[in-house]
Amino acid sequence: MTTPLICDWTKGNRRDFRKKPTLWEHRVHESPLFSDERLIELIEKHPRDLADFCTMNEGSDDMASWRGGDPGDYSGEELLDAVRNGRLWINLRKTFNIHDEYTVLLNSMIGELKSLNQNFNPVRVMGGLLISSPTAGVPYHIDRSDVLLWHIRGHKRVWVYPVDEETMPEREVEEILLHEHNDDVPYNERYDAKAMVFDLQPGQAATWPLHAPHKVQNSGDMNVSITMEYSPFSTIMQNGAQITNGILRRRLGMNPKIDDQGFTNQFMRFAASRALRKMKLVKAKSAAKSGYLFKIDLEAGNSVREFDEQKGAA
Ligand SMILES: [Fe+2]
Repeated sequence: MTTPLICDWTKGNRRDFRKKPTLWEHRVHESPLFSDERLIELIEKHPRDLADFCTMNEGSDDMASWRGGDPGDYSGEELLDAVRNGRLWINLRKTFNIHDEYTVLLNSMIGELKSLNQNFNPVRVMGGLLISSPTAGVPYHIDRSDVLLWHIRGHKRVWVYPVDEETMPEREVEEILLHEHNDDVPYNERYDAKAMVFDLQPGQAATWPLHAPHKVQNSGDMNVSITMEYSPFSTIMQNGAQITNGILRRRLGMNPKIDDQGFTNQFMRFAASRALRKMKLVKAKSAAKSGYLFKIDLEAGNSVREFDEQKGAA
């Protein structure tokens, strides 16, 4: 019999899963797939169009400082050094969907979660690998899908906030859903008093309710984590209903509340969102930052050479 990957799925976890911030222990980090050698190999073979190389300013409360960079011609080993010594965040999207040995691991994780939770039945799970610097952080934001964060190496502090009218007004959720690339979320330090804080160690994983705002700050060593993203029908339906609510609020001055809308009402609003999308009333916001704004440079501070700096030096 193989040893389970999930070690302590408690009654409380079963009760709270997707309803409250939830923490559990796992053994995924014991896999040899996350050694330096394997990470180097992965960085080199992973398709570059599925890889994001980002940096951010010190402190993690400003999403506007989050920007993408050019990894240049560095080898996997050099890029791992750049992460270890700089302020970088590499997301190897779909690692667990396109590399067989990682897919086998993802399928085992999903299989165990399904057997532990009758209501965990995702159609498709996207598994990405995050490799990030000891000083990297992710500002206050929400995700459009359900997320499970499996921590593998290093240390991370994760703040998870409730979805309430102060920390995440319904209007803000709608604003994010209405615009594909709008991730700006107003943050105030006083929200921290309401946050649940997880100090994630290797071998721990966490999840939280859909649209719960969260922020992350690394510490200590280079961090490695797995993000499992999935959207059960309930999420697809709720997002669609909130898109319709957003349009009704903005165009007709109505004041819809998602929590007051039962399944049938939400389903009708989800269906309406599909029609509204066809009518181009739901648009991608063009404010998305595109293109590289810096270059990874092992000689530069934080391994980051801003393009402005390069021009200035020329
Ligand atoms: Fe997130």
